Amino acid sequence: MHLSRLLPLGFVASVSAQALSAVLSTNNATLSTLSSLLATVPDLVQTLSGAQNITIFAPSNEAFSKLLARNPRSAELMRNPRLLTGVLQYHVLVGRTPASEFSTTPKFPITMLTAPFANVTGGQKLEIATVNNTAMIFSGYKQAAVVTDVAFDGGIIHVVDTVLTVPATPGQTAINTGLTSLAGALTSAQLADGLNALVDVTIFAPSNDAFEAIGSAAGTLDTQALANILAYHVVSGQVRFSPDLLTAANPLSVLTAQGGNITVRRENGQLFVNSARVLIADILTTNGVVHVIDNVLNPSNTTATLNAAATTQAPAFSGVTSVVDSPFTAGIVPTTTFIPATVPLNKGVAAAIPTAAILLAGGAAMLAAHF
Ligand SMILES: *[C@@H]1O[C@H](CO)[C@@H](O)[C@H](O)[C@H]1NC(C)=O
Ligand SMILES: *[C@@H]1O[C@H](CO)[C@@H](O)[C@H](O)[C@H]1NC(C)=O
Ligand SMILES: *[C@@H]1O[C@H](CO)[C@@H](O)[C@H](O)[C@H]1NC(C)=O
Ligand SMILES: *[C@@H]1O[C@H](CO)[C@@H](O)[C@H](O)[C@H]1NC(C)=O
Ligand SMILES: *[C@@H]1O[C@H](CO)[C@@H](O)[C@H](O)[C@H]1NC(C)=O
Ligand SMILES: *[C@@H]1O[C@H](CO)[C@@H](O)[C@H](O)[C@H]1NC(C)=O
Repeated sequence: MHLSRLLPLGFVASVSAQALSAVLSTNNATLSTLSSLLATVPDLVQTLSGAQNITIFAPSNEAFSKLLARNPRSAELMRNPRLLTGVLQYHVLVGRTPASEFSTTPKFPITMLTAPFANVTGGQKLEIATVNNTAMIFSGYKQAAVVTDVAFDGGIIHVVDTVLTVPATPGQTAINTGLTSLAGALTSAQLADGLNALVDVTIFAPSNDAFEAIGSAAGTLDTQALANILAYHVVSGQVRFSPDLLTAANPLSVLTAQGGNITVRRENGQLFVNSARVLIADILTTNGVVHVIDNVLNPSNTTATLNAAATTQAPAFSGVTSVVDSPFTAGIVPTTTFIPATVPLNKGVAAAIPTAAILLAGGAAMLAAHF
């Protein structure tokens, strides 16, 4: 069924709605799947028809085919109007975002997706940026979508080649992006549920390599000591994306959930936290953002020193030795394969990202696993 037959009479009076129905009908060859999905959620269509100054990222038929191939269960999820509405709300920006708004400095505009599917003040966000001279969108697990058609930019509709992934909880994000040591450590410290339930967080997430580097200490930490260390990686009540951290005071002292402060620094366009380098910035979660770092931070170490020129940093724990197997991963089964996109920090100054840090196990992907 074509969308325009479902639209209330007032729809055509709305600029954005006109653009929506015009794009859908003139691009039926590309957007018929989206049209038929929208037909199953008339409440959302009505909301969009009444809205002004919105931007819609319209997944192409190919985008839905790719999703289905990756995760056959997505078809079933799409038949649930509540879940479909959530997914589609994540494709709508509050505000006009013409193609000219994409730049090498990432932006994080607000989408229509809110509670209960997101725990960030003001609504869940997307990352938009120009990477490799291509206008791109980064959604949950830092999955990339390419804006394939900006002919209808008018600030309103862009066709995208990938269905955007609704950001998952920090715990799921850790497991599904290969941060299995962190996922296991959070579980061991009984912090996972509490962290997932926070509103507005910034989490500095040590890679598996980082946990391996302090491996000999892993077995000696009791629950409380581990919780104390992990809490030192969490900034509660603030969502700090990389462009913000790259332009803030340098160095920047930030209070953590542990009670101590971490120091964020930038050197040569790269970001550091105490003596750790940010490897992957800006992975969106239900409740904020995760930045992957290459060292485990130590709240008891006031003398940990950064060597920005080095590819790896000395562990911030005295007397530790490394181990081969990732600590804390017993019983942690990676459920999906999502490799975060490589986006240079700060206009092309790329961080060296050791691929081992993001090595992933296979498994069936799941759309918005937290629904
Ligand atoms: C749009 O495409 C679908 C599937 O290809 C087709 O069933 C439908 O009739 C088309 N609608 C219009 C208005 O062309
Ligand atoms: C939409 O944007 C226009 C131009 O920026 C502005 O004048 C108008 O007030 C906005 N409308 C709403 C409802 O925000
Ligand atoms: C949001 O936080 C509440 C508690 O603060 C929690 O119950 C809920 O599951 C969270 N929502 C998501 C999508 O994680
Ligand atoms: C810790 O950081 C906060 C800002 O988050 C700042 O106000 C405070 O002065 C810092 N404390 C120390 C001891 O540096
Ligand atoms: C603090 O970190 C440095 C590396 O930056 C390390 O050499 C030192 O042993 C650590 N001290 C403590 C008390 O953990
Ligand atoms: C940008 O190009 C580099 C080099 O070809 C590639 O490694 C990287 O994955 C690309 N980034 C995105 C987001 O496509």
